[in-house]
Amino acid sequence: MVGMGTCGLATGADEVYEAIFDEVKRLKLSYQVAGTGCIGWCCEEPLVDVCLPGRPRLTYGRMDAHKARELVRGLSEGDLKPQWAIGLLTGFENPLTDIRTRYAKQTAGVDGVRRYEDLPLFRHQVRWASRNCGVIDPSSLEEYIARGGYFALHRALHAMHPAEIIAELNHSLLRGRGGAGFPTGKKWELLRRQDVTPKYLICNADEGDPGAYMNRTLLESDPHSVLEGMIIGAYATGATEGIIYVREEYPLAVKRMQEAISQAEKAGLLGDDIFNQGLRFQIRIVKGAGAFVCGEETALIASVEGRVGEPRQRPPFPVERGLGGKPTCINNVETWADIPLIVMRGGDWYAQIGTATSKGTKTFCLVGAVKNTALVEVPFGITLRQVVEEVGGGVPEGRKFKAVQTGGPSGGCIPESLLDLKVDYESLTQAGSIMGSGGMIVMDDSTCMVDIAKYFLTFLADESCGKCFSCREGLQRMQQIVTHISDGHGCEEDLDLLEELGWMVRETSLCGLGQTAPNPVLSTLRYFRDEYLAHVREKRCPAKVCKQLIAYRIDPTVCDGCGACVRVCTSEAILGEKKQAHTIDKARCSKCGACMEVCQPKAVLVE
Ligand SMILES: Cc1cc2nc3c(=O)[nH]c(=O)nc-3n(C[C@H](O)[C@H](O)[C@H](O)COP(=O)(O)O)c2cc1C
Repeated sequence: MVGMGTCGLATGADEVYEAIFDEVKRLKLSYQVAGTGCIGWCCEEPLVDVCLPGRPRLTYGRMDAHKARELVRGLSEGDLKPQWAIGLLTGFENPLTDIRTRYAKQTAGVDGVRRYEDLPLFRHQVRWASRNCGVIDPSSLEEYIARGGYFALHRALHAMHPAEIIAELNHSLLRGRGGAGFPTGKKWELLRRQDVTPKYLICNADEGDPGAYMNRTLLESDPHSVLEGMIIGAYATGATEGIIYVREEYPLAVKRMQEAISQAEKAGLLGDDIFNQGLRFQIRIVKGAGAFVCGEETALIASVEGRVGEPRQRPPFPVERGLGGKPTCINNVETWADIPLIVMRGGDWYAQIGTATSKGTKTFCLVGAVKNTALVEVPFGITLRQVVEEVGGGVPEGRKFKAVQTGGPSGGCIPESLLDLKVDYESLTQAGSIMGSGGMIVMDDSTCMVDIAKYFLTFLADESCGKCFSCREGLQRMQQIVTHISDGHGCEEDLDLLEELGWMVRETSLCGLGQTAPNPVLSTLRYFRDEYLAHVREKRCPAKVCKQLIAYRIDPTVCDGCGACVRVCTSEAILGEKKQAHTIDKARCSKCGACMEVCQPKAVLVE
């Protein structure tokens, strides 16, 4: 099985797949070659899993076409190539059925290969929403069903009253995974009570946060789990039409969803008489052009209606007046994928893990300065330290942890002193950040927090739709001030002004974009004020990042005159004869850092 999510394909999974397919054919082996979704082990892509009869499943990382062919040849001769294997999957618990896959029964290991449950990346994970990701072939309805898929829908239609489903959701305390954490059961109940028809369900797969790809992966790896959640939602709320709003930049997710919709229609799982129970529900895909603000629910509705994606004042909430003025319930991809679990296992079962107010699990994209960049699913209540240091494997050698940003571009930066914070909606908000949809960016000591604040402000000011004054003008002004500081022109009063402006934008903006956009600035001012002060008082960037405050220099006692820096310098700023120490013309230097990257003897210094 080859991991064929966008991440796998980007690193050459299709060539690996072809190589395996060809070799299997050439050697006339009776192996079945399949594509699967993404198990989230991003730093080891492309991934290949091998399942031999009577053997546990082995995962091989960083494959290429050559290694893949050799692997097939090895397997055909009984050589499992354990030296290339990175994990032994003895079975993830299938949360839908509570029975482990049959591989779990085969306890025999493979020498030198660690089991998934012993690997730090997987030890803390509880894979509920992502239960099938990287496990099944996403284009196979049969494989989804074989893992317990559509059993929850069957149970809902045959054995549960709509009100019972909503009661289970209320027991589960499931909160929306799109960021705001609104109780899902409550939202469904509000929709159910509306007597205006038609009613709509929308799956919000806009996912505009830089660095976040949880929703894309779910759609690509297990599209039927989202469909099943939506069909159950239709039965519980009386909605007759569903829309999956997904950005145009996610072509594979669109393709897999479309495929899954067609399969469900053919199988009678969507249409006019679902499961022969008289339930009528259709789902269609609407592609968004990819603006961050279009993830906000009222802007999303405007976009679906063909209008400019701008939010509007709430109330009325979409559940009262949504698409085309009709009642509409919008939920995040992950929220929908959680529904079959709750219907199958019950709300109390779901609420068994988590904190008092945040139950169940959450997927996160763990990126940045961590050894294991990965898509992970962890229980609420896990600490940030466990996520960063254990699941993520900590910061790569030679660097120190500085901060972790949760919640995407409008999240806050949390410092080392708060790493023992439990991951739940309230704790993150108290710390000046947000849960958001699940981005988690780890930063090391080479990061300048002023520069980070500038980066996110630039993104958010760009993405502000401009409809309300405080977000449009406020973010631009904040961006100007932070840029001024990072250029070394700021003064101490600027910090107070930034704070005041940040609070004003937060309090007076129309939608969640403006209400959260000041978080990166406010949190870095709160936890990393000394860095701002170094920029304004000493005109110094402690992390040596802000270009206007640094200069590159070559240490003549270390430089061996190899000329590598000369070859990469596009500004022609490096002078000197071959085999003799070079110098940098500071007036010409663009401070791109390319010379530093290529310098083997480490003669290039930043000061
Ligand atoms: C600027 C902005 C962007 C958003 N982007 C998303 C998104 O990409 N996906 C999402 O599910 N929710 C997003 N939301 C939250 C949605 O407005 C809404 O709360 C959510 O889709 C509701 O689903 P849930 O209850 O399952 O979380 C965004 C909100 C704002 C303010």
